[in-house]
Amino acid sequence: MTARGSCTVIVGAQWGDEGKGKIVDVLAENVDIVARYQGGANAGHTVHVGDDEFVLHQIPSGILHPGRRCLLGNGVVLDVRQFFQEYDGVVARGIDIDGRIGVSYRAQLLMPYHQLLDKAVEHAAATKIGTTGRGIGPAYEDKAGRRGVRVADLLNQDRLAKRIEAARSRVEGKLDELGVPAARLDEAMDETLALSDRLLAIASDVGPEISAALEEGKHVLLEGAQGTALDLDHGTYPFVTSSNTTAGGAATGTGIGPTSITDVIGIVKAYTTRVGEGPLPSAMTQEMDEHVRKLGGEFGATTGRPRRCGWFDAVLTRYASQVNGLTGIAVTKLDVFDTMPEVKIATAYRMPDGKERRFFPADTWSLSEIEPVYETMPGWEAPTGDVRKLEDLPKNARAYLDRIEELTNAPVRWVSVGTKRSQIIPIG
Ligand code: GDP
Ligand code: IMO
Ligand code: MG
Repeated sequence: MTARGSCTVIVGAQWGDEGKGKIVDVLAENVDIVARYQGGANAGHTVHVGDDEFVLHQIPSGILHPGRRCLLGNGVVLDVRQFFQEYDGVVARGIDIDGRIGVSYRAQLLMPYHQLLDKAVEHAAATKIGTTGRGIGPAYEDKAGRRGVRVADLLNQDRLAKRIEAARSRVEGKLDELGVPAARLDEAMDETLALSDRLLAIASDVGPEISAALEEGKHVLLEGAQGTALDLDHGTYPFVTSSNTTAGGAATGTGIGPTSITDVIGIVKAYTTRVGEGPLPSAMTQEMDEHVRKLGGEFGATTGRPRRCGWFDAVLTRYASQVNGLTGIAVTKLDVFDTMPEVKIATAYRMPDGKERRFFPADTWSLSEIEPVYETMPGWEAPTGDVRKLEDLPKNARAYLDRIEELTNAPVRWVSVGTKRSQIIPIG
């Protein structure tokens, strides 16, 4: 049967923090359901509504539009305590979310011991990843190792106790080896399990729910977290997160068939940023990096860490276009470049042997040795924050967007020129 609704995947096309939250919020105006398909509280999605700023970590970014159903799919690792803190925080700010949130019975529970282990391993590691410390890696390890605890396990207390005991004692053994005390773990586990009934009350069969909605002609957004270059398989391994952030993960992470997906929109910043360890091929000079960080407010929404800044890397976004099958892109933060006399785009990588390549290499370590090949374009040196139509953008800004579109190989469908909902230019 052919689905009559629409299902659009929103995916980060760089190293995360591209402005997915802002774009999902804008597009949520015209959809019925927004679902997260992977990741956990490592994400920090910022949404501005009027003068209010919301940073959402686990709740989908459609929550600020009344009536939209917000789901967390099976691909998510759910930190239950943090989730309900966020939930209560949103309610306390006057948002009615009663009956609007559903969590997959198949979602994995991210336990306090995962978080302890993440921090301990990172602390002891010779090659640091610079994780967010939210327990993401250990939770997905337990999932892949078939030791994970799922929402559905909360339905049977005996089975739950056994599964937790097995997973927890393994983690405690590792903490012991690392010489890290399992401080406050009992208390944290009690707090987590005390929320079981509350969680079961909103548990849902997310895949069938989305499929049924599509059959009824409803519109759905699947909201990715992190970005393509942080994908476990396709990113700059091992400097990645532990889930499939790319569009393929949207089907497996929600439980719908890939043929239900009608559009895949890649979110790209007008430049590139990265937080955590790992190479950033188009990194700016220290002076420019500091300048752009200040202009763009580039500090992590989850950890507050400064984000490294680089020029727009078209080698990466072209790769993202291929990996995700992008049908369009949304370019965010164009306004951040409003005062720049010139802007650069990395169009290829020059390898140590002098050869140029236009493909993103699988060998992550080679990225530290490449020299980006830049194209320099004149800046527009004019404010864009009030522009609402493409033709009203300065000529040089349009030329910059045209070049991004051409090199990325995906049409620009939206341009964001500020944090506000209204600061968006729809195209076509
Ligand atoms: P996400 O993780 O992809 O949702 O992105 P983050 O929320 O972590 O980071 C994006 C930041 O840029 C947030 O502070 C947003 O409020 C902000 N932002 C989003 N779009 C724009 C834009 O077009 N212009 C400016 N100046 N800021 C933006
Ligand atoms: P959103 O959804 C940017 C990075 C971390 C680290 C690596 C692994 O807001 O775009 P993890 O805690 O996942 O094991 O860390 O991934 N990272 C992000 N960087 N945006 C994010 O999410 C990120 N989530 C994780 O900094 O380098
Ligand atoms: Mg973010």
